[in-house]
Amino acid sequence: MTSFPSLLESIDDLAFEQIEMLVSRARQFKSNSSAHQLPIQPKPILATLFFENSTRTKHSFSIAADRLNVMHVDFNAEKSSLSKGETLEDTFLTLHHQGVNICVLRTSVGHQLSEFKKSLPIKIINGGDGTNEHPTQALLDLMTLLDLSQNIIRNKTIAIIGDINHSRVAHSLVKILTHYKANIILCGPLEFLPKEAQTSNVKTSLDRDDTIKKADFIYLLRVQKERHEKNENSSPDDYVTNFGVTLEKLKSLDKLVPILHPGPANVGVEIDHDLIRSSLYKGHLQVQNSIPMRMAIIEAMLLNNDQNIGNIHGEKF
Ligand code: NCD
Repeated sequence: MTSFPSLLESIDDLAFEQIEMLVSRARQFKSNSSAHQLPIQPKPILATLFFENSTRTKHSFSIAADRLNVMHVDFNAEKSSLSKGETLEDTFLTLHHQGVNICVLRTSVGHQLSEFKKSLPIKIINGGDGTNEHPTQALLDLMTLLDLSQNIIRNKTIAIIGDINHSRVAHSLVKILTHYKANIILCGPLEFLPKEAQTSNVKTSLDRDDTIKKADFIYLLRVQKERHEKNENSSPDDYVTNFGVTLEKLKSLDKLVPILHPGPANVGVEIDHDLIRSSLYKGHLQVQNSIPMRMAIIEAMLLNNDQNIGNIHGEKF
């Protein structure tokens, strides 16, 4: 197996065997809740650097680090020297020289990490970058889908309903599910659907009820207004009527299938109260799985034996 990447920006950074390894290691962590000690001295440090709000991702990284006996530093992005004009690269280098091993970065801008592909100032995990990707969410979603399907999602149909275009979660999820040969239906109003999405395993649909009828699993997304361009129609008329999913709707279509959601949910818009409080709702399982999955990711990155971190030389002699 190729060594685990030191920059996890996208699902494309992982080989299929590495995805499988992470799921299997996460399951081991889940079934054995005792503390784990990594063979690394001094004690490793993980920093979170979040330029956007987060309830789930940041805390789950923090708890996962604690379970691995890794120190967590929550870097206050607003109070940092970045606000004094320091570049992201220099900030990463500073953290590296303070002894930080891994930095989890969340930004409202996409594709900022690609510039570090050639020489890395520090090991980096993308905790969500703009509308681009959220690879660790896709990994925990995959683990949850495998848990719910006796490990077989090949040829199963996963309907992702909502604001697909602005969802970094959906972008990473489609990539990871493609590895598993699952069928994907992207459903939402036209302005939220990618134009070039159709492939052999990915279809788009404007018809919620028809999509639900075909689904083995439904993955709901909120309308991510803060990621819309200023002139975009961010709340299409009749969104709730045409694309909201309710318990009553599932009952009327005789499709009581598992419902996933990355959170935060807007109750009364993409999902109703009865559905989010029903046993069909698997959002809590996703949150539970986020800890062992992020433990597996942190462990794999810390142990990848990459000696080239922080060797950034600008000179051209
Ligand atoms: C998502 C995110 O921030 O991308 N949430 C998460 O990380 N669990 C989804 C969202 O913002 O709607």
